[in-house]
Amino acid sequence: HALFRPIQEAAPPSPTKRHTKISVVGAGNVGMAIAQTILTQHLADELALVDAKPDMLRGEMLDLQHAAAFLPHTRILASPDYSVTARSDICIITAGARQLPGETRLSLLQRNLALFKQIVPPVAKYSPGALLLVVSNPVDVLTYIAWKLSGFPPNRVIGSGTNLDSSRFKFLLAEHLVVNAQDVQAYMVGEHGDSSVALWSSISVGGVPILSQLTKDKAAMEQGVLERIRKAVVESAYEVIRLKGYTSWAIGYSVASLARSLLRDQHRIHPVSLLAKGFYGIPEDQEVFLSLPAQLGRSGVLSVANIQLSEEEAARLRRSADTLWELQRQLEI
Ligand code: NAI
Ligand code: LAC
Repeated sequence: HALFRPIQEAAPPSPTKRHTKISVVGAGNVGMAIAQTILTQHLADELALVDAKPDMLRGEMLDLQHAAAFLPHTRILASPDYSVTARSDICIITAGARQLPGETRLSLLQRNLALFKQIVPPVAKYSPGALLLVVSNPVDVLTYIAWKLSGFPPNRVIGSGTNLDSSRFKFLLAEHLVVNAQDVQAYMVGEHGDSSVALWSSISVGGVPILSQLTKDKAAMEQGVLERIRKAVVESAYEVIRLKGYTSWAIGYSVASLARSLLRDQHRIHPVSLLAKGFYGIPEDQEVFLSLPAQLGRSGVLSVANIQLSEEEAARLRRSADTLWELQRQLEI
């Protein structure tokens, strides 16, 4: 006899509440950090995991399913077969090689290009209407590759980019200024990696623009401190990789915040990797993806913020674009 008696005249599910599905390809350190943040923040009704290692993948799925009693309800699926991702709203790609201590992100390119040729076509086939969110490194070039391999419009192909670098930047600025990181407005743009660009001129705390508030002498001194902070941001991942072998928690939260802004149509501004040609003096013929502050919503990238850059910032951004363009020109996709 049934445990519960069904209600005959129960209303059908409200058409306004859509079923949401997120897929994560790559169930390693980064994929699992993203998966667990998505679950604790209840960003999806269904979460599908894909990885090339079936036993490890099933183990990760069961381990998450065993937390059901402590989590908001989410259906968790996993398979090495991409059909498990069918009809996703967002597909997040984290599969691939990662850096050894001291290795640059760009050195991963050829290995991860080969993997993306296997991964992106089936992802795009099973979820032709999805948003693609690329995390694997080097993230900017791989986002370009994912755009080419998927055939999706550019506004639906996004790289996690400098959303993470900007969080590291805010953390270090907040430590220096003894304020709460959530009150710091500060962006890193350009390449996620060694040529990323800090936008000093737009840093503010609680609405107070910190550089223009200082006198000239003091500003020069403060520029030195800020330059040290910028270098520390660029060094951050190298340090964590040297100490624990990989980075995972910060990227997990960073990507979950992007997924929330996208799925819930929040129109929030995030610095993410997008097709940047034509913005901030980047030539129209350079089809590079790099990070610019952009408004994100249910259809992907909605607009790019028009921040006033200093000449030096704009020049650094164009150099970042040149670096990526040079690399892309040599690729066989
Ligand atoms: P990991 O080695 O822990 O996980 C990678 C996973 O990819 C493994 O489970 C592996 O089985 C899977 N995989 C390999 N080939 C596959 C295929 N053809 N299909 C499906 N799955 C496949 O590495 P980790 O630490 O998770 O890093 C993953 C990537 O994320 C790296 O490229 C890393 O550089 C990047 N990353 C990017 C960040 C960012 O800010 N954009 C931050 C941190 C890492
Ligand atoms: C990061 C990775 C390694 O944590 O790109 O920045």
